[in-house]
Amino acid sequence: MRRIRAVAHANIALAKYWGKADLEQNLPAVPSLSLTLSGLRTVTEVQFDSELKEDRVSLDGEVQTGRPKQRVVELLTRARARAGSNVFAQVQSRNEFPTAAGLASSASGFAALALASTRAVGLELSPGEVSSLARRSSASAARSLFGGWASLDANAEQAQSVAPADHFPVVMIVAETAKGPKAIGSTEGMLHTARTSPFYEGWVAGAPDIYARARRALLEKDLAELGAAMEHSTLAMHASMLAADPALSYLTPTTWSVIERVRQLRSEGLAAFFTMDAGPHVKVLTSATMAASVMSELQQVPGVLRVATHEPGPAAYWEEVDA
Ligand code: DP6
Repeated sequence: MRRIRAVAHANIALAKYWGKADLEQNLPAVPSLSLTLSGLRTVTEVQFDSELKEDRVSLDGEVQTGRPKQRVVELLTRARARAGSNVFAQVQSRNEFPTAAGLASSASGFAALALASTRAVGLELSPGEVSSLARRSSASAARSLFGGWASLDANAEQAQSVAPADHFPVVMIVAETAKGPKAIGSTEGMLHTARTSPFYEGWVAGAPDIYARARRALLEKDLAELGAAMEHSTLAMHASMLAADPALSYLTPTTWSVIERVRQLRSEGLAAFFTMDAGPHVKVLTSATMAASVMSELQQVPGVLRVATHEPGPAAYWEEVDA
């Protein structure tokens, strides 16, 4: 059968997804809005092979077992069911992220896997349908099928494009503040927040307005307003986590130093805005023209390990490769 290579890029949410409306279907409790980034890409090859006795999965050259393999097998099983196939597959995936970029790769990983496996099994699905398959594995992955700006509504099965990559000349600067993988993954973190945080309900109730504000600002190309909504979203999300029992605190003193520096830069006239996900790194949204100045300022914050600038990136794509 055909060997398919798919490429997908990581995305960073401006209006955050944190919380599930349906655990089994993995439907989000809140709407989210993201920017797909160039540079941070996952390349995944899938080939179904009737000689195989089970699915085989390797990531960055290492054979996967246990839960990481299981998550891939679950997606393959859904693709097979849809195509009426019972053939196992060989999956090889690699993350082309700068070393220790400190960025979650599950979004680009499941987006690339959903695209490669559906094409390899012979399905011709729309980007929305592939997005829906990716969402079952990781909801943020639903957004990485689309280039530029994408949204995933509360309770929605598939993400959709909001604006193309060239809509607005902005960049996202990633300031890496710690080494190593995060202690508690997003799935576990959001379930723990929903179960134990008295602020979770407030987060879910307030998120649609924050999302609407961010979306409107994006369509109007109003960077200051978009940045304000983005900061509100991340801080409200982290506030809900901090009120969990025990607290879920991903932010470190270096995270806060970067936030403080971003606020100072703003008071000095630079349009720069921060956001953090389920980890200590800070992603800073700024205009393309100010990127170099903001980058050199962030590099000087004590504790910052590395700074990299990422432009808006393309939609996921695929090609057939020689077996
Ligand atoms: C903080 O998509 O990793 O990055 O659906 O359980 O796999 P699952 O969660 P995941 O959560 C991402 C959370 C976030 C915010 C965001 O990307 O919107």
